[in-house]
Amino acid sequence: MPPAPSEPAPPPSPSPSAALPRQFSLTDPASPWLIVNKHRPLVPAAYAPADLVRPAVAMTVSGESALLNSTTAGAAEAMFAAAARDGVSMVLASGYRSYSTQVATYNGYVAARGQADADTASARPGYSEHQTGWAFDIADGGGVCGFQPCFADQPAAVWAKANGHRFGFVVRYPWMFHPITGYYYEPWHLRYIGVEPATDMVNRGIFTLEEYFGVGPAPGYL
Ligand code: DAL
Ligand code: ZN
Repeated sequence: MPPAPSEPAPPPSPSPSAALPRQFSLTDPASPWLIVNKHRPLVPAAYAPADLVRPAVAMTVSGESALLNSTTAGAAEAMFAAAARDGVSMVLASGYRSYSTQVATYNGYVAARGQADADTASARPGYSEHQTGWAFDIADGGGVCGFQPCFADQPAAVWAKANGHRFGFVVRYPWMFHPITGYYYEPWHLRYIGVEPATDMVNRGIFTLEEYFGVGPAPGYL
């Protein structure tokens, strides 16, 4: 029997497709939900994390590139250990990059490929997730296809794509989403956002942070 008109309607039960509550800033570089892309530069441009640490994982890099922010470092240690338990050898191939390092990295791409092509693969200084400590690049322990499209088929990439969310990571620049992210596929570039939202993205079939957090696509610089 329907409720009498005087009775208040029951509150709607939470929908399984309801978005997570907005817990963290999308603009603070110290926030795990930061969205930095070609429309959303880091503020300040020369931001540097206060809590950079060296994760206890296998790596091919040293110095600054071996660092991550402390939250990301802990999550990376858990993920690399889980991959190893599954027989997958994963190595850290590029972690933190300061603003000045990104200047050199980006300029190297421009010199080698021209600016238009560089912009499909390397962020301009002040626009890179690497500058926040929330992102890093992986390679396969076998060393095959490092930073190349064929890396997508290597065990470390296949494992990270399937399991990264369990540790809070997303493949930030997925295949064919460059009109939204601004970058071609980078199966090696993992970004920490937290287990709950990363798992929620998988469950909903949402592949980009731009779509998940409801900000616009950022195919090119403004
Ligand atoms: N390769 C990514 C987009 C970066 O430079 O941050
Ligand atoms: Zn990267």
